[in-house]
Amino acid sequence: MTTPADSSPSGDPDFRDLNDLQRPNPLRDEFDKRLPRIAGPCGLVIFGVTGDLARKKLLPAIYDLANRGLLPPSFSLIGYGRRPWSKAEFEQQVLSAVRDKARTPWRQGVWDRLAEGIHFVTGDFTNDAAFDRLAELTRTLDRERGTAGNWAYYLSVPPEHFPSVCHQLERSGLADSPRSGGWRRVVIEKPFGHDERSARELNAIVNKVFPESSVFRIDHYLGKETVQNILALRFANQLFDPLFNSHYVDHVQITMAEDIGLGGRAGYYDGIGAARDVIQNHLLQLLALIAMEEPVAFNPAELQAEKVKVLRATRPVGPFLKTTARGQYTSGWQGSQRVKGLRQEEGFDPESTTETFAAATFEISSRRWAGVPFYLRTGKRLGRRVTEIALVFKDAPHLPFGQGQTAAQGNNMLVIRVQPDEGMLMRFGSKVPGSGMEVRDVNMDFSYSEAFTEESPEAYERLILDALLDEASLFPTNEEVELSWRILDPILTQWAEHGRPDDYPAGTWGPASAREMLARDGREWRRP
Ligand code: BG6
Repeated sequence: MTTPADSSPSGDPDFRDLNDLQRPNPLRDEFDKRLPRIAGPCGLVIFGVTGDLARKKLLPAIYDLANRGLLPPSFSLIGYGRRPWSKAEFEQQVLSAVRDKARTPWRQGVWDRLAEGIHFVTGDFTNDAAFDRLAELTRTLDRERGTAGNWAYYLSVPPEHFPSVCHQLERSGLADSPRSGGWRRVVIEKPFGHDERSARELNAIVNKVFPESSVFRIDHYLGKETVQNILALRFANQLFDPLFNSHYVDHVQITMAEDIGLGGRAGYYDGIGAARDVIQNHLLQLLALIAMEEPVAFNPAELQAEKVKVLRATRPVGPFLKTTARGQYTSGWQGSQRVKGLRQEEGFDPESTTETFAAATFEISSRRWAGVPFYLRTGKRLGRRVTEIALVFKDAPHLPFGQGQTAAQGNNMLVIRVQPDEGMLMRFGSKVPGSGMEVRDVNMDFSYSEAFTEESPEAYERLILDALLDEASLFPTNEEVELSWRILDPILTQWAEHGRPDDYPAGTWGPASAREMLARDGREWRRP
């Protein structure tokens, strides 16, 4: 391998040769995004590498990326944490995570190459000496392995550690791009604050060290294929978007239901709850993609501008006692299994008032959406795991049929199934065969697994690769994050001041108050 370390006259490491590898291929159209995009020379440091997310998602995603040939041969992965692990011990940890969760087949050669670039640095987030060792290691890898001064830092740590980690990255010089070239980026996991004020404070801390253009905030829902398809559905077709407005749409329901409980997640979840965990980020991002105007072009700045515009126009509808619902699961049956209630789960306060179900009503003050409620709901230990967006259409303005002929017909509906069973369903009325005239609902279904042979990559694969490629379209900006908190904060304040969540048995579809919330508007939740 060429090591350009000694090639510069000043004796400074000079990575220009390796960065040359990132120059666009003159034979390739840079706007052609159909071909696989491959990251140039670079490395990734993960803080919080011993956590659940790293083990279940990040480390397997890195192997899968390598296996698909999307990482450079020089790719290096450094874990940073308090464990006194050697390189070999960390390698074993990564290996077991990969064996457990990787989605692509095992290939020894890929692993061997990846493993050569795996390292571990022991230290906590305030330790100067450990960060200096980390900085030294990155320089060594730049010289010897060819990471070319290009480093991304993945903060998979609770937000209270952001200040120390950012300070240390700045102090040790890790945040600065080397004079000889190379980039520095930071990738940040949620939760990004617990309200608008704390999000602003965190943004200020991060942006003091990294310019906004180098900050990649993860909302893994945006990495999902079906979520990106919302843009294709709306803006690549003539059939759907003209109907996306208050003339045709009665209301929109966005549901993210999970059947899992919270055993083992008390440390993160108790005191956070379903609205902060899911509505503030994933569901408001889905709302933004469904409701935003067409971007002028498909680049990060234009996409983000449209999302910001729609989030600015979004408000929670009150009075919250009637337009929201919150619940907490009690023991019940999940399929054939008896499961505990939240307050009996390990680590949770037996008096916990943390909600595991949240539903709320939002409106968008724009010509397109005025008067159309957006109902968002999420919960743990619900009937089954499903995330979907349902646009429920108004009745036809006039029905030239006799009494009773359309009695069995419901509202037309367009349902985007985000997961599982990715696809889209259209529900509309059709004549029942026979000599009479009777209209009943039928479904037209598009399923990814039937239409395409390629399997969708895991969201984290897509997002890690995008961060390494400096492709920011799928990452919410600081403004989007702050606006989302601003939308949710009034509900959280009211909830904190009044009452506690309603109980619902595990395995059901949430508390009765959620049904009542929609019934007051003369509507009902779709049973996914
Ligand atoms: C995370 C939430 O962001 O998303 C978790 O913190 C939730 O509580 C998870 O379980 C769900 O992700 P997915 O991709 O399985 O829908």
